[in-house]
Amino acid sequence: MEKKYKRTLVTTALPYANGPVHIGHLAGVYVPADIYTRYLRLKGEDVIMIGGSDEHGVPITIKARKEGVTPQEIVDRYHGIIKKSFEEFGISFDIYSRTTSEIHRKTASDFFRTLYDKGVFIEKTSEQYYDTEAGQFLADRYITGTCPHCKNEHAYGDQCEACGTSLNATDLINPKSTISGSAPVLRETKHWYLPLDKYEGFLREWILEGHKEWKTNVYGQCKSWLDMGLQPRAVSRDLDWGVPVPVDGAEGKVLYVWFDAPIGYISNTKELLPDKWKLYWKDSETKLVHFIGKDNIVFHCIVFPTMLKAEGSYILPENVPANEFLNLEGDKISTSRNWAVWLHEYLRDFPGKQDVLRYVLTANAPETKDNDFTWRDFQARNNNELVAIFGNFINRSIVLTHKYFEGRVPQRGELTDYDKSVLEEFKSIKNELEGYLDTYRFRDALREAMNLARIGNKYLADTEPWKLAKTDMGRVATILNIALQVSANLAIVFEPFLPFSAAKLRKLLNMGAAEWDKIGSIDILAAGSVVEPAELLFEKIDDAPIEAQVKKLHDTKLENAKAEPSVAPIKECVGFEDFMKLDIRVGTVTECCKVPKADKLLQLKIDDGLKGRTIVSGIAKHYKPEELVGKQVCFIANLEPRKLKGVLSEGMILSAEDADGKLSVVSPAANVTPGSEVK
Ligand code: MF3
Ligand code: ZN
Repeated sequence: MEKKYKRTLVTTALPYANGPVHIGHLAGVYVPADIYTRYLRLKGEDVIMIGGSDEHGVPITIKARKEGVTPQEIVDRYHGIIKKSFEEFGISFDIYSRTTSEIHRKTASDFFRTLYDKGVFIEKTSEQYYDTEAGQFLADRYITGTCPHCKNEHAYGDQCEACGTSLNATDLINPKSTISGSAPVLRETKHWYLPLDKYEGFLREWILEGHKEWKTNVYGQCKSWLDMGLQPRAVSRDLDWGVPVPVDGAEGKVLYVWFDAPIGYISNTKELLPDKWKLYWKDSETKLVHFIGKDNIVFHCIVFPTMLKAEGSYILPENVPANEFLNLEGDKISTSRNWAVWLHEYLRDFPGKQDVLRYVLTANAPETKDNDFTWRDFQARNNNELVAIFGNFINRSIVLTHKYFEGRVPQRGELTDYDKSVLEEFKSIKNELEGYLDTYRFRDALREAMNLARIGNKYLADTEPWKLAKTDMGRVATILNIALQVSANLAIVFEPFLPFSAAKLRKLLNMGAAEWDKIGSIDILAAGSVVEPAELLFEKIDDAPIEAQVKKLHDTKLENAKAEPSVAPIKECVGFEDFMKLDIRVGTVTECCKVPKADKLLQLKIDDGLKGRTIVSGIAKHYKPEELVGKQVCFIANLEPRKLKGVLSEGMILSAEDADGKLSVVSPAANVTPGSEVK
């Protein structure tokens, strides 16, 4: 049971300012945080939502070096783009600031100093790679070399991307500095460590006993970290970009980005509320909620709380509703592979359709498992749900009001039993919505909101007021009054989810500000009040723009395949006897034709030095039949015959597959006698 709080502090993970933001960011963090915050505001609660850009860290310095600009230029550029994207999507931050601000530098620096003065840190000297030509220590990402596991020659000091193993820079064979190209040397350097191990007892008690209600993905990850045992973590780095370590003798050292970034939540609150920030960070009646993605769980549930606890005067998060990942068309979103839907590009391609994306990302949010965004699903949800249900209901209600009542809300007469049964169903919506929103189940909440639109739509379809207009205008008045009141309810209920459409709807209905407590009421609109002429809330999306997006992604895939030919991993070893079981031969193609009704298959007649055989092969996209006649090919001669599209295939032609999927048949380097064995 969550306790009752006086105010809520919502924080959202600070995105790295080394690239623009994409749909994965929105779905995982910013849309859910925005829904939650808007919901609390509608209820009239005291809530603030804090955001900002994370502007330190090694990747930003690498990007700057690549472009030949300063790190500050990089973060200025992307901070601007990110901030604008969020504004345009209606993410209603009370402040969106940045970690290169002066107030942040001071706040982070003071925070470190407080822990330092309390003797919290361990000081430790260790050996790290140093580039003598460049005259600096090297972050792991600045070192490449050969992976000790798979022998990939381009592994990084923290990870080999070919085999996925995480590495220490000292594991690399033949390490090289990416700055000067020279071989780095090991040199001693001193750093400060946060002794997480000493806080294990506190963390176990606080999370594992005290927060069993956290989402299972979050609780589970915490438990496994705690069960593995915690180690001290370095909170400083040898780097010239970041908040300087405020200690004598720490020249050339900065705070580790994961130490300063979460303090950014505090700095940004200070910047927003210079006089009142402590109320939000230090009063036990404040509920602190961190919205993040799953890759940030350890930092928000273990490291940052340990920092806060060690400092001693701060509250701890009440909840950390982390989401899983959103994939795009079946593949992991990746900035470096440009596999993403960038928000600024979406806004260019679908102007004015922010709510559609908000809707789809919430309906399909990766709340409990990774989920997939597809453009077809985007189109279908827009056309079949937003347009066909929500938009259609609103449009009908308003159009009919203009048709029969000159655009004024008609007076309601007596309710029928049917009306009452519909209203009964609609009364429960508020409770259910609250139940879901209070427990961070935004998909379920959205489904419930949509359910209200469904109820309205069905009500009009069942009562058919357009048929009653000739005989019973009193009844038509009642029906439309109810339909308009349900519309007004929708304008409130959808405010957290689809703020642009909800605002438009409130304007159409002339209803003023939304108030959460009015949900369930059928007296929101006064009889006689004016309803504006209908305007569509949502528009159908055709196939063409969707196909254009799919094509764009397809092109990205092709480009990536060209840029970095990927080599399939080697399969498990087989014994020599197993290999010897395969009978591979050379044969000459004597005839070749397409297999009817199969666009991939060719049927080949092979001279195998014996009585000849037929083989069906999936190479029709790569060869014209006449190109193959006369050629020698290698084939597996003892593969069990099988029927393909009605043709018995007696073996398999060997061909090599290129990174982009192009097939090329395997031939001996010089002609040999048909039937020769390949060994
Ligand atoms: N920049 C980090 C990321 O994108 C998130 C930082 S969250 C904060 O993964 F707590 F450090 F601010
Ligand atoms: Zn490797």
